[in-house]
Parts: sequence; structure tokens; C-alpha cells
Amino acid sequence: MERNWWQEAVIYQIYPRSFRDSNGDGIGDLPGIIEKLDYLRELGVDVIWLNPIYSSPNDDGGYDISDYQAINPAFGSMADWEALLEGLHQRGMKLVMDLVVNHTSDEHPWFVASRSSRTNPQRDFYIWRPAPNNWRSLFAGPAWAHDDATGEYYLHLFSRKMPELNWANPDVRRAIYDMMHWWLRKGIDGFRMDVINLLVKPEGLPDAPDPTDRNVFFNQPGIHELLQEMNREVLSKYDIFTVGEIPAVTPATARPYVSADRHELNMLFQFEHFETIDRDGWDLPTFKRLQRKWYEGLAGAWNSQFIGNHDGPRAVSRLGDDGEHRVSAAKLLGTMNLTLPGTPYIYQGDEIGMTNVSYPSIDDYRDIQMVSRYREAVANGAEPEALLRSLQPTSRDNARTPFQWSAGPNAGFSSATPWLPVNPRFTAINLAADLASPDSVCRYYQRLTRLRRSTPALIYGDYRPYLEADPHLYVYERSLPGERVLVLLNLSGENHRVALPQGVGDQRRELLLANVAPPADGELELSPWEARIYRLCE
Ligand code: NOJ
Repeated sequence: MERNWWQEAVIYQIYPRSFRDSNGDGIGDLPGIIEKLDYLRELGVDVIWLNPIYSSPNDDGGYDISDYQAINPAFGSMADWEALLEGLHQRGMKLVMDLVVNHTSDEHPWFVASRSSRTNPQRDFYIWRPAPNNWRSLFAGPAWAHDDATGEYYLHLFSRKMPELNWANPDVRRAIYDMMHWWLRKGIDGFRMDVINLLVKPEGLPDAPDPTDRNVFFNQPGIHELLQEMNREVLSKYDIFTVGEIPAVTPATARPYVSADRHELNMLFQFEHFETIDRDGWDLPTFKRLQRKWYEGLAGAWNSQFIGNHDGPRAVSRLGDDGEHRVSAAKLLGTMNLTLPGTPYIYQGDEIGMTNVSYPSIDDYRDIQMVSRYREAVANGAEPEALLRSLQPTSRDNARTPFQWSAGPNAGFSSATPWLPVNPRFTAINLAADLASPDSVCRYYQRLTRLRRSTPALIYGDYRPYLEADPHLYVYERSLPGERVLVLLNLSGENHRVALPQGVGDQRRELLLANVAPPADGELELSPWEARIYRLCE
């Protein structure tokens, strides 16, 4: 595969509502991001991906868009956005915007027109039926909402305020392509495409044999032709990259989306490793097996790596240890994320080891997915206290708490009460403390991003895992002709000795980076959550 800048990039994901509030209204904003660009440059980030900042009634954190070409005033103005883009480009950094075109807000003028009468010219911009089928929303409850004014039902696979666009309608496609051109001409460097494998719905919208089976609506026939059209009409005309959010795939079904010769997308987010972990509990051999499966299954195409995002719990709480070994575990997870094959995404706050929260009441939560599931389960007789406790560890609000800049009021995020309460651990876990200490998580991330950039094997190298059945140790090599790099990770709270196989253990090693000071004698006994990166010398 040809080499591209987006393969070499380290990408940083910003959830703007929670990053930095510059004007004291409790909501993060674009000028707040501009204030922090030097910090991000220093962290070694090349590209910023912004979660949606468009006009939105904010039913689902801005994924319900009411105007694709306007900035939500809570985040600032178009002039602020232009200043942000310029600030990034001046620093040699790039900007990727979230493209959310499977659905709009029900307050988008297209939907307002569509629902106004059955004969409105834009009626067919959305999916209307006289009677619902048995599909379920991916959040909770039925996937159809009744509209009293026109007496029909519209489809929404997320909240009822997020009606599905009808991509079978050429006018919808044209309007979206025009909007994409508009942003691309403004100089953005790429799109992260929200649930992009949902755009095509199955012919006739039949009842699902199992309404909880996502294969009913993901990856439907026609989706590849549609993405090829989008590529031909829009994407191919710019030097940009695209990453598709593509749930419910195997390597075989994912490959066509990102194979270079098919001209659809450049890389993808798949979720099999996290979905398996969340269903069955953390299990390192399974994680390794899935990493290998995706590495081999996507050969010739490009993957991405991430340990967290705005849709799940915090990485150090989910995969690591957010207690005694938090600092080592957060550094280890960063090491894993930046040395496995694929372009790494760092989610804001993971670079200081931010942790999950447990708010005392459901009323403290804003995550519509969690709140809808809570309401549905309570209506079906679940015991509220136990239900709250079971939903807390997976709530998307875990990752959406305000960034902890300092130990000052509201963690230095805002001078006002933040829209979502700050994690009470901010007095100990914050950036100011991290920058003051050479051994902090953040200082380590700075070294890690630089090491990745200067080590081609970590970007383009083959991936060879060792000790695959070991339940605590994750050991792998990344190699190119003339450069071999060995990564040793201990994902446990105990010491473990690494027994390296022949051809690896007998090579001379040069330590490139470690998250704790390793023993001077070069012994391969790893302490709890220890991570080391070596160069293997012939
Ligand atoms: C995926 C986004 O990441 C998530 O936050 C959102 O709720 C859904 N897509 C719907 O847009």
C-alpha cells in the first residue's frame, strides 16, 4: 500500500462541550480549544478530530444536527471556527470534522418541511410509513415515531429527535454532497463519518426475524456503490482522509469499505474488540486474538487504534487500573494504542489518565442512551438503584466529564458550573499537576508520540505477536527491513517474567522507552502495569 500522511499521524479527539470553556457559560467552546493548541502541539498531536459543533438542539451531544453549515452558538461563531482552522494550520496541524448524515435533528428545516404534509416536496427526504415494522432503536424502544399531524410513522434508529435521512432520494444525496464540498472548500482536512454503514436501508423495510440483530440495518446491499459515488463526486477531489465509524462488521465485511483500490474510505473504526470485552469482561487473550484477526484480515487496507472515545467508559477504568496503579496503567494503555498497527486516536483526557465517574442519581446523567435505557428498564420493572449501578460503568458520560486542567475551581474547565459535573478526582488528576512532574502520564505521552514519529517500524512495520495465550503479558514486535521494535506490556497488578522466544530473546536490546524505571541489569521481570519498548539490534 502507498504511504500517506494520515497513516503517520497521531490524532487527538476533542469533545468540544467538555474541553475548555472560555466564556464562562459552563460549556466548552471553540475559543477554548484555540487557547490550548500549543498544549496539543507539545503533546505531539498532528490532527484534531472535533465531535459535532454544528447547530443542534443537543438531544444527543450534537449528533442531532439542525443546520450543517452553522456553528452551534454555544460553541462560538463561524469566525471562531475559521480562527481555529488557521491556528491549527499555522502549527502544521490538521482538522477533521464529524460528518453525521445518517440522520438529522427533527428541528432541521428539511424535517420540518417533511413532516408538514404528506405532499411536501421534501416529504421523501426522510423515511415515512403508514405502519411501523418491528425494528428497535439502537438506544432504546421502537425505531418508529408516530407523527400526529400527518398520521404516519418516521424511522429513527437513534432518538426520536433524530429521524433517518432517505439516501435513496437523489435530492438528499445532492444536498449532502454540496454541504461536504462547502466544508472541504473551507480547507478542512478530512471527515470522521458517523455510522456510515447505516446509510442504505433494506429494500421494503421488512420485519426483522430478530429485532435486536443489528445486521438487519447495517451493511445493506448498495452501501458500497453509495460510498463509491460519494468518493467520486466529492472526496476524490481533495487531499483529505476519511475514517468511517463502521460497527457490526468482521474483517471480511469491513475490508471493502477501506481497500485502497475500491475508492470508498481510507480507514475505519471497528468495535469488535470492545464489544467482545464489554459483553464478556476484560480478557487479554481475546483482545490479542482480535487484534491479530483484524491485522491479518485487513491486510492491504488500513486500520485505526483507539482505547476510548466519547461513546464509552474511560480507558484506564475499563481496561486498566484506576486505583493504585492508575499512572502506570494509563501510560501502558497509551503505549499499546500508539504501537499497535493502525493510526492511533487519543481521546481527550486519556493523556492525563482521567477516570470514570459515578454520579449519585440518574438525574445527574445527560447521556441520552443511558437515560433511555434506564427509563425503559424501570418501566419494565427493574429495581432503580441496582439498575443505576449496573449502567454507571458503561455510561457515555464517563468520557464526557469536563477536562481536568488544574486543581482550581471546576478543574480549570470553566468559571461557571459545568454542564456535566466535574469528576471529583480532579484535585489529584489534572494537567497542571502532570506538567509539573517529569514522570506523569502526560509527560510520558509526549515522549511516546515523538518516539512513534521517529520510528517507521511503529507506523508501517509488520505486527508479530508472541506469547498469545498469556493472560497477563502482551508482547509483540513491529518490524521493517532493518528495524525491529519489541513491545512488552504487563496488563496486571502482579510481577511477571517474560520468556522471549528464540530469535527475539537472544537479540541485543536497546531500551527506547519505559513507563517505570526498569532494572539496570536488563532483567525481563515486569512490575505491575509496566510497559517497555526496545529496539532489537542484530
Ligand atoms: C455514533 C456517535 O459516536 C454517537 O455518539 C451517536 O450517539 C451516534 N453515532 C448517533 O449519531
